[in-house]
Amino acid sequence: MRRFAGGVVWALSLCLAAGGAQAADKPDWAFPVTDKVQPAGVPDDGKPKSAPGSQKSYTRAQIEDLYNPPDWYPDIHPAMPAIVAKGDAPNVRACAACHLPIGTGHTESANMAGLPAAYLAQQMDDYRTGARKGSGSMIAIAKAITPEANREAAAYFASLKPIRWIRVVETESVLKSYVAAGNKRLVHPDHVFEPLGQRIIEVPEDENRVLNRDPGVGFVAFVPKGSVEKGRALVAGEGGKAQACAQCHGEGQRGTKDIPGLAGRTPSYIVRQLFMTQNGERAGLNIEPMKAVVAALTIDDMLNMAAYLGSLEP
Ligand code: HEC
Ligand code: HEC
Repeated sequence: MRRFAGGVVWALSLCLAAGGAQAADKPDWAFPVTDKVQPAGVPDDGKPKSAPGSQKSYTRAQIEDLYNPPDWYPDIHPAMPAIVAKGDAPNVRACAACHLPIGTGHTESANMAGLPAAYLAQQMDDYRTGARKGSGSMIAIAKAITPEANREAAAYFASLKPIRWIRVVETESVLKSYVAAGNKRLVHPDHVFEPLGQRIIEVPEDENRVLNRDPGVGFVAFVPKGSVEKGRALVAGEGGKAQACAQCHGEGQRGTKDIPGLAGRTPSYIVRQLFMTQNGERAGLNIEPMKAVVAALTIDDMLNMAAYLGSLEP
């Protein structure tokens, strides 16, 4: 019996030694993966859905068509190029399905509204070459998209006006959440509170509208108490942990003609990028200046910076 128990402990410590160092650090809350066990949902009634103030209606099947996703409010954005609205079947799904016609995206994807076109096009190329890892869907798209369509899509997202999309709230407890299909974090139907701890939890302001790919509502990001002020200090370069971000990311962290803005961006996305830059999973053509910036950061530093950046006016 004693031998057996010892064997278990030995096997366990081997596992930790093999995969532990990096895995222990990875902030899983920032890398949502669809939970294997899902709470029982309400079955779809098959009826068309609507959106406030929109003349349109779409069934669930139409909403889930990644080659022709809904465009609830055609008047709030410029005309979409075909690649954004419909993609290029069979391998390039419509950008608007995940990033929405207004470019703000959902928390598991990326908010690209108003980022520099050359930056966006280069990211696609970094996904294609494998220098930037992270999203299976983006890598598949990058391998199949034509250079011309990539440029058109980048120009479209660069032309969009950044808007406030995230409401940052400091708190000690949050409603328990789970990760639904498509890596989307939603509030668990049990509606029980749990401690937030050192995490950022983002959920839709209005779950049905987000599931309908309705760009009329964004997300709320629950962040730990005090994180916004700690993040402000780090972003300003106080304490010397990292270079002041505004030196490159521009006044108010709103970006420059070459460098992406950070103000009002999805906090979990920011943490993903900082973490992946630190561990070399994000190693694209122009990443060099960011390597020194992230070198000394802890996960808590990344969390605090992201909470502050998310709270800024884009
Ligand atoms: C199935 C969902 C999906 C579709 C469709 C999709 N994307 Fe993405 N995209 C993502 C995800 C997820 C990420 C974020 C990956 C991460 O966190 O590292 C992303 C990130 C990006 C980024 C990086 C943004 C940045 O700030 O660095 C670019 C550029 C991009 N997508 C362009 C596109 C374009 C152009 C299209 C259409 C041709 C497209 N995407 C279609 C899911 C999608
Ligand atoms: C010396 C210049 C420089 C400084 C200082 C700097 N950055 Fe960056 N940052 C860049 C560049 C250049 C990129 C684009 C990298 C690429 O093209 O892949 C970038 C990209 C990023 C991204 C990815 C954005 C996206 O859309 O995916 C994040 C997040 C980021 N920086 C955060 C920060 C934070 C936080 C700070 C301050 C602590 C900071 N940066 C300071 C140059 C800088």
